[in-house]
Amino acid sequence: MTSYREFHRRSIEDREGFWSEQAKLVHWEKPPSRILDYGRPPFARWFVGGETNLCYNAIDRHLGARADQRALVYISTETGEERSFSYRELHAEVQRAAATMQSLGVGRGDRVIVYMPMIPEAAFAILACARIGAIHSVVFGGFAAASLAARIDDARPKLMVTADGGSRMGKVVTYKALVDESIRLAKHPPRHVVIFRRGLDKSMQTVAGRDLDYAELRERHRDAKVPIAWLESNEPSYILYTSGTTGNPKGVQRDVGGYAVALAASMRHIYCGNPGETMFTTSDIGWVVGHSYIIYGPLIAGMTTIMYEGVPIRPDAGIWWKIVQDHKVSVMFSAPTAIRVLKKHDPAYLSKYELSSLRHLFLAGEPLDEPTHSWIAGALKKPVIDHYWQTESGWPILSSVPGVENTPIKFGSPSFPVFGYDLKLLREADATEAGPGEKAVVAIVPPLPPGCMSTVWGDDERFVKTYFGTFRGKQVYSTFDWGIRDQDGYYFILGRTDDVINVAGHRLGTREIEEAVNMHSNIAECAVVGVADSLKGQMPLAFAVAKDASKLDSPEARKTLEREVLETVDKQLGAIARPRAVHFVSLLPKTRSGKTLRRSIQALAEGRDPGDLTTIEDPGALEQIRNALKG
Ligand code: PRX
Repeated sequence: MTSYREFHRRSIEDREGFWSEQAKLVHWEKPPSRILDYGRPPFARWFVGGETNLCYNAIDRHLGARADQRALVYISTETGEERSFSYRELHAEVQRAAATMQSLGVGRGDRVIVYMPMIPEAAFAILACARIGAIHSVVFGGFAAASLAARIDDARPKLMVTADGGSRMGKVVTYKALVDESIRLAKHPPRHVVIFRRGLDKSMQTVAGRDLDYAELRERHRDAKVPIAWLESNEPSYILYTSGTTGNPKGVQRDVGGYAVALAASMRHIYCGNPGETMFTTSDIGWVVGHSYIIYGPLIAGMTTIMYEGVPIRPDAGIWWKIVQDHKVSVMFSAPTAIRVLKKHDPAYLSKYELSSLRHLFLAGEPLDEPTHSWIAGALKKPVIDHYWQTESGWPILSSVPGVENTPIKFGSPSFPVFGYDLKLLREADATEAGPGEKAVVAIVPPLPPGCMSTVWGDDERFVKTYFGTFRGKQVYSTFDWGIRDQDGYYFILGRTDDVINVAGHRLGTREIEEAVNMHSNIAECAVVGVADSLKGQMPLAFAVAKDASKLDSPEARKTLEREVLETVDKQLGAIARPRAVHFVSLLPKTRSGKTLRRSIQALAEGRDPGDLTTIEDPGALEQIRNALKG
């Protein structure tokens, strides 16, 4: 058996040989003429000239051997529904959705925004786009109308697909009403909105001519046969917006062929998911984990995928393990926050169900602390694999790779660089390599492997500048994460190098939150920092300067303004970005050149030393932060 080290070495030293072998895991209508074109660094073009399709690989390819096997199982503990679709049924549903899109003028290269709760129709819409070569852009349902509008204006979709409502902890979220508002705010609204009615929002309004009913259109295209659009490997498959240092989100653009191959390779070598088995990923389709491992990955591997609408503790904290038992789940993927939530409940829930089908639990999205890692591994008595990656990479960067070699797990570590990634820990100052035990930037020497982002949608320059501009004179991809490697070669991730924070596995930019806070008419300026939280990993905390300080003359007045500011954030960004508190100060700590000292504020909020303060303009500002935190 190959050792993992050897497998990884070959993926870097003989890139093209390695990936041409992995490419055999998917169907190519036309084989690639070149494995890698790296003629225009740092843009890597994989499987050039090859023609394939993500929907074909996810569905049609399995119809011969597994038409009657379940492809998708939908379980909602919010509405009590359970529906499942065989590969044959999924094929039919996706063709209905694809024909609907075509009838509305959507074709190859057109964008479709999917703003949907966790229901099967969301998967149908996504796969339908892939089938006809349209570019989907799924927006997480937790984002508010203004965020959605910004994404509409960047992607300029021809069509949006939504539902009347979603449900979280029994509370209805009115998706369609949010879409209406976002369209009012947008400069480039779509021509049509297709709405799947769940009966959750009885007072839903429609706009004649623009709004169309999913069920009606589905009926009209019941027997539709929609041929596959064979796409050149490097054509875009989707855009997924993610947060960065600036306020405007970046559209991470993905290709077709490289993504298909990377996912297929990860399903085999990392997740060890076999055809006919079941995978349960507890994320949301609005995040990259949902794209890769609720929809495309497991289906490409011929597995049954579980789509779960609900929270981990309703009806009780055993629900996920019941699903594992009832559906004989062999691969499970979740996030550390969820495990920390479960840890607060009775451990008996973990021994109540028969979990013999489960081989591994994978966790990602935020740092997995050692106590949580060892607790869940002990409670499940299964290997729990921490793995690290990003929206940009689309699939794991650091992980144990049990399909190749069962390397021992170290709690709190996502193990080693995954095949295809020429990963380095580089010193920020001069891009030289850090030694064992030395904290440095996690970087990837390009070309990035297949599956990683191809560019920022509509902005090649931003792609190069943002991701390859960290180290002067060296074109290396920065993950914007700090990392460290121990004597045995195990990596540990130590948090972001930029202003991105991670709240319960949701990635948010503190600048975006600051812009939302600033939308309140009585806020002059603010600083938002991420502070450690025992459950969610991090929480945003805001410090704001009011324009009219006379409105803050009593504790009640402060409370009122705080509440209004929090409501503004809910409205602009969504409740996921709501700060834990808003503290009012009369000035923010800044350097003499006017840069807000966010790191010092964060350090104080976490009870640490504020660090080097030689550049501070007015030390009194920091005193105010200290007092605000005490008060
Ligand atoms: O900071 C890292 C953190 O989450 C960021 C990426 O978030 P997102 O784009 O939403 O993609 C999530 C895909 C799983 C990273 O830059 N992160 C992700 N996984 C880990 C992690 N931090 C520590 N340990 C991890 N396993």
